[in-house]
Amino acid sequence: MQPVPGARATMVLGIETSCDETAAALVERHPDGTGRIIANVVRSQWEKHRAYGGVVPEIAARAHVECLDELIATAMAEATISFGDLDAIAATAGPGLIGGLIVGLTTAKMLALVHAKPLIAVNHLEAHALTVGLTDRLSPPYLLLLISGGHTQLLAVEAVDRYRRLGSTIDDALGEAFDKTAKLLGLPMPGGPAVEAAARAGNPGRFALPRPMTGRPEPHFSFAGLKTAVRHAALAVAPLSTQDVADLCASFQAAVAESVVDRTRRAMAIYTESNPASSAHHLVVAGGVAANAALRQALTALAEAEGYAFHAPPITLCGDNAAMIAWTGAERLARGLIDTLDAPVRPRWPLDAAASPALGAGSKGAKA
Ligand code: KG4
Ligand code: ZN
Repeated sequence: MQPVPGARATMVLGIETSCDETAAALVERHPDGTGRIIANVVRSQWEKHRAYGGVVPEIAARAHVECLDELIATAMAEATISFGDLDAIAATAGPGLIGGLIVGLTTAKMLALVHAKPLIAVNHLEAHALTVGLTDRLSPPYLLLLISGGHTQLLAVEAVDRYRRLGSTIDDALGEAFDKTAKLLGLPMPGGPAVEAAARAGNPGRFALPRPMTGRPEPHFSFAGLKTAVRHAALAVAPLSTQDVADLCASFQAAVAESVVDRTRRAMAIYTESNPASSAHHLVVAGGVAANAALRQALTALAEAEGYAFHAPPITLCGDNAAMIAWTGAERLARGLIDTLDAPVRPRWPLDAAASPALGAGSKGAKA
């Protein structure tokens, strides 16, 4: 990224409340386009939702109200700055659960109004997409595999604010498939980390599960059938021993990795064809499921084989956090992309407005 002549460093407060994590962070962006996290606090609500086996929107919204002010105060205190020192206030405006979005965006609007600061209404998916700018100093263009609890997409990231969707899931999101698989095997929520932990002691070759969509020309995904195949395999050997559960998790994860690698390889071919001039291509994986070590390993090998450089944010910045919101706010501020105080919350907010509606957004739908 080119340095902006004469520009100074900017400091942005970020707020994230789109699902079940309440978060506040302060990020500094330097004139050369690099950034630094000054404070980053996240509070998970999982204990409040555990008994229900999933995120309850009303409980989530109330929990955000209860602790957001405190988390913002903690972040500000950690950074030892006051609101007057900020250059902008950024909050997730979508996609996500409407109650939580209203809590975060309204708080940001109030702070922006009281302290006369610019407001940036951030798309949560753009924040996942741009995290590597903060962690790896990587700026667009790059190919992005976005895998989270509510979305599974392959996108050409052409520039800040410019995205082209190449493929998406036709049913469940990948994180959702991990969560549902965990639930049916009696593992605790959130399911992704539990499935990954159980899989470590398992045999990935024991159960022959499908590799959905492999070989299809369009780089779309599907995970609903795989989840059903896990159910049938589990029923066939029930009652399940700890080893059965481990083998099912390992077999599921192996099937997921093969399917995701095949779909990403297909997207790489399309991406390379439409970006022939670019010398070095980059593959970026982001979103909560990007924390999965088996997937990271499989994607690293794929990137190496295809001549792409591979990037993944550190595990702590894969899941939902406010540092990515603050950073996206800073990136948008640097380009004059500022919002007005009547900016709406957008429970559904595709990154690629020109693309046809996503074939399937997962049953959690709007969640990112
Ligand atoms: O991005 P994120 O924190 O929230 C959304 O915006 O959805 O992603 C959460 C999802 C959950 O479905 C969770 O089970 C999954 O990411 N996840 C994982 C792992 N860690 C979190 N899935 C697989 N392996 C993991 N290690
Ligand atoms: Zn997310």
